[in-house]
Amino acid sequence: MKIKISETKIIQKMARVILSSIFLLSLTVCVNAQTGAKYKDARQSIEVRVNDLVKRMTLEEKILQLNQYTFGVNNNPNNIGIEIKSVPPGIGSLIFFSADPVLRNTIQQKAIDSSRLGIPVLFGFDVIHGFRTIYPISIAQACSWNPELVTENCKVAARETVLSGVDWTFSPMIDVARDPRWGRVSEGYGEDPYANAVFGVATVKGYQGKNLSDPYSIAACLKHYVGYGMSEGGRDYRYSDVSAQSLWETYLPPYEACIKAGAATIMSGFNDISGVPATANYYTLTNILKQQWKFDGFVVSDWNAVNQLISQGVAKDRKEAGLKAFMAGIEMDMKDGIYLEYLKQLFDEKKIPIAKIDDAVARILRIKFRLGLFDHPYTDIVNEQQRYLQPESKILAARLAEESMVLLKNEKNSLPFSSSIKTIALIGPMAKDKDNILGSWSFNGKASDAESIYEGLQNEFKQNIKINYAKGCDFEGTDESGFDEAFAAASQSEVIVVCLGELKTWSGENASRSSIALPVIQEKLVTALKKTGKPLILVLSNGRPLELVRLEPLANAIVEIWQPGIAGGTPLAGILSGRINPSAKLAVTFPLTTGQIPTYYNMRQSARPLEGLYQDIPTEPLYWFGHGLSYTTFGYSAAKVTATSFKSSQKIVAEVTVSNTGKVNGKETVLWYISDPVSSISRPMKELKFFEKKEIDAGQSAVYKFEIDPTKDLSYTDATGKRILESGDFYIHVGNQKVKIELLE
Ligand code: NOJ
Repeated sequence: MKIKISETKIIQKMARVILSSIFLLSLTVCVNAQTGAKYKDARQSIEVRVNDLVKRMTLEEKILQLNQYTFGVNNNPNNIGIEIKSVPPGIGSLIFFSADPVLRNTIQQKAIDSSRLGIPVLFGFDVIHGFRTIYPISIAQACSWNPELVTENCKVAARETVLSGVDWTFSPMIDVARDPRWGRVSEGYGEDPYANAVFGVATVKGYQGKNLSDPYSIAACLKHYVGYGMSEGGRDYRYSDVSAQSLWETYLPPYEACIKAGAATIMSGFNDISGVPATANYYTLTNILKQQWKFDGFVVSDWNAVNQLISQGVAKDRKEAGLKAFMAGIEMDMKDGIYLEYLKQLFDEKKIPIAKIDDAVARILRIKFRLGLFDHPYTDIVNEQQRYLQPESKILAARLAEESMVLLKNEKNSLPFSSSIKTIALIGPMAKDKDNILGSWSFNGKASDAESIYEGLQNEFKQNIKINYAKGCDFEGTDESGFDEAFAAASQSEVIVVCLGELKTWSGENASRSSIALPVIQEKLVTALKKTGKPLILVLSNGRPLELVRLEPLANAIVEIWQPGIAGGTPLAGILSGRINPSAKLAVTFPLTTGQIPTYYNMRQSARPLEGLYQDIPTEPLYWFGHGLSYTTFGYSAAKVTATSFKSSQKIVAEVTVSNTGKVNGKETVLWYISDPVSSISRPMKELKFFEKKEIDAGQSAVYKFEIDPTKDLSYTDATGKRILESGDFYIHVGNQKVKIELLE
């Protein structure tokens, strides 16, 4: 890597700061000097231990705690920056680019033995959808509408993470995302604030367990606080024009819910919020998060985000960037070394008060104490066979994959395959893929652990169905030389299954696309195969909603499998064979074309709903949020409410009975929405307030209930975060019904 002169200077300067810090520390190192100190006594409360330790720390020791560096070889192409060769033992945190617990213990031992106070290092890493047992990406998880299953998978991730020497993951991402051009749409739970809140909380619960100090708990980190999902034009790292109203109504609610659920840490975003960068935003970082919500954990900046305040045009140099970020409320500086370089100077110049430094250190130490790091700083060494990919972990990953695959289309019950079928053509660049199906952010995931679609189908159909495979074409490019072979395979088969999709690098961080259509070569392959006249099943694996306007008419059925992780083949095969009845519903809308973006179900009401439409295409998206088919049919009874007029102090219950009127057992998710047709400000057309998924056997029924608490479910927040409850009419939406209720004065 080439380093510019300015970067070299920064490195030299930082190296000097680090060396002088090491020198200062080495002067004061005195192992066991703190024997008998309260902070070492596990019987004391965490707050007593934190306060005792902060009192004993020098300014240099405090500042070291506020920094995070990396250790090991960074294999994330978006996060390559200045690498520091050695870090002082008193450092607050390291991003651990290794899965070696022995190495962690060595570093930890050095930190504890050669620093004066023996403060353990906090090891962090991006464990986003599994450590080694990679399960479906977050947007897929949300389509399962099964938060309990997500929690179970996150528990597996937490255990594998702990045993790999890591205490802290930078997950969940709960940025509401309504522009599928933005690659990070794959990392969150879709377009709805409530869904992001529920799945965020489910994830936090899975990682953190009942108690952070439990042996297999890790600390969660909510990201990217806040408004990052609004990135202009779907381009990454860009301006986000977030009004105060949408900040409170759309972007903050998932964060508030996860903070209330006990999330230990939070990461600031790269974006700015209507001009004020998220990493220098006192209003969001301190006023809302710490003063209003009483968050007592710490905020870490995103990678180099403090330094980036210069590029964002709010700081003239690194020193000013550090001052702005720190005073706004960023406690830990990820990677850019600015705090280590300038905080002491800023303190000496009286620009930063000691109380603020003490508070920041206390927040970081509090999480270290809560994790039990002072009492159990080392990782248990367990061999790799017992650490990763346990049979029950793989089963959980497969169950989540199965529940997150969405049957988008099923013309004339083309699926499941009829029992008479003896040959299928399996075609497309995704059919034998084992790498892209893992999705982005799967660093320790291995293609060799994954089951391809082809393998899944072989296991499912064994000798009963012959699979004629042909790749057909690559994911992109113009090479059509494989079309003939694919056509021949299709011609010799009764049904064609075409497996298309995106490379894993096309979504995730720094992976925006100007068009959400699949590359032309993939569309051409389908057009060519359609000429065989055989039924055509489209299987899609991708990290964002796709533009399917040209493909949809060519397909008899479409299954969206997202990026399912290591265990997607068998669940998909089960759906094709009918062994599994699909139960997922979209947590994000599929626009008809890229030009329809943004299109999301909870848009505001229009002044002329029937006008202002596109002249060249329909205005309706192809598949709305909540769309997803089943092999059975569900009948909804007329919805009932315990009262149609009620006061704000009264809770009412809405109820609907759902009957499985088809021939096979199935799972149905009932989504409950509320709309407020007249209020002081224009409200979304409807808003999801509650959902529940239940299994209903063929011929059986289940009762679904939604308890409506007016102060929570009928109120809205204004642009300052104040909740407003106005009397008048509201509607409950369930299935295709709309029930009027009235809140009395
Ligand atoms: C940058 C990404 O925006 C963030 O999501 C990630 O956690 C950090 N890098 C650390 O890798």
